[in-house]
Amino acid sequence: MRSVVHTRPGEPEEVLTLREQPQPPRPGAGQVLVRLLVRPVHPGDLALVRYASGPAEQQSAGRIPGVEGMGVVESVGPDVRTLRPGRRVAVFPAPGTWSDFVVVAADLAVPVPDGVGDETAALMLVNPLTLLTLYRALENALHGHKGPVLQTAAGSSVGKLISAAAVRHDLSLINLVRSTAGAERTRALYPSQPVISTSDDDWREQVRRHSGDDGVRVVLDSVGGAMSRDLAALLAPGGTLLSYGQMGAGTTPLESLPLVARELTVRGATVLRWTDRTPEERAEDVAFALELAQDTPNLLEVAASYDLADFKAAVEHARRPAKSGTVLLTTPPATDSRNGAA
Ligand SMILES: NC(=O)c1ccc[n+]([C@@H]2O[C@H](COP(=O)([O-])OP(=O)(O)OC[C@H]3O[C@@H](n4cnc5c(N)ncnc54)[C@H](OP(=O)(O)O)[C@@H]3O)[C@@H](O)[C@H]2O)c1
Repeated sequence: MRSVVHTRPGEPEEVLTLREQPQPPRPGAGQVLVRLLVRPVHPGDLALVRYASGPAEQQSAGRIPGVEGMGVVESVGPDVRTLRPGRRVAVFPAPGTWSDFVVVAADLAVPVPDGVGDETAALMLVNPLTLLTLYRALENALHGHKGPVLQTAAGSSVGKLISAAAVRHDLSLINLVRSTAGAERTRALYPSQPVISTSDDDWREQVRRHSGDDGVRVVLDSVGGAMSRDLAALLAPGGTLLSYGQMGAGTTPLESLPLVARELTVRGATVLRWTDRTPEERAEDVAFALELAQDTPNLLEVAASYDLADFKAAVEHARRPAKSGTVLLTTPPATDSRNGAA
């Protein structure tokens, strides 16, 4: 069994290594052991490698990145009745998916319908559930209005899901990207939505032309850093800066934002708190994700696939500018005895 591990926080290229172990872990009560076939390299996975700190013993034993993936149930804990060995499943949250095997609670392993391919299944939980998380926060911040909303990194995998949802829900969305080429790509996908590149000197004026003088009601932001100040300045009085990622460089002091004078709200949102939802709510969300995977698999785009052992090349590709879609790490199917559970 192979796992990608790190024993200290740091740049992924520097701290990640491949570890071989003779035996996979055993599932306990209520758990299943999943032989993973495909798992994504999300920006959040890389951020956690950089900043994660855990109990000292976990760090010295090695932390395995990854929270999502798909594979086949290898074995089940004594009391698990809902899943049998051989079932194809997608898992989230399942810490440690950058490994040939992961143990996960049986109720967090979602059976994958036959019509959904392995790569789509590996991407069908985190980003669609992030979309739902953001959409709920957005509705809360919009108080019944239909926008205008500004989103950053509109060409990202999550950004494209937001654009597609905006079309479906008739939401007034302005897309912000960081390059002219990125603007062209995003415009081709969502021609009804304005697309502006921050490489244009007058990008703030362009946003104001689309939002009206009042400004936008909400900014959906995954860039942050030094850009937060400009984004806050584009908000209408009473507007909300909704932060869900931090890909940008630099920082913005809270005191430099016109929070008081313009009664702005700054809030965060994360899919990593999704398990706080009730089992019924989670089942509804998973049904949404399954429908999206079946009906619009193109929204779960793959940038490239690499074998788990080639994780360094995969990480480099995942951070490449102008990449479209998500990079995957794969394990050959079970017939390859090198990856066997025996
Ligand atoms: N809070 C949550 O629960 C949650 C869940 C999922 C994702 N996220 C966040 O959502 C964001 C997008 O994730 P993803 O998987 O959709 O990403 P992705 O598909 O890998 O795409 C990354 C995008 O970000 C753009 N980008 C990268 N660095 C940038 C910078 N410094 N300034 C402006 N744009 C930049 C890239 O633009 P180019 O095309 O120009 O290279 C690309 O379009 C990330 O911040 C991630 O952490 C958060």
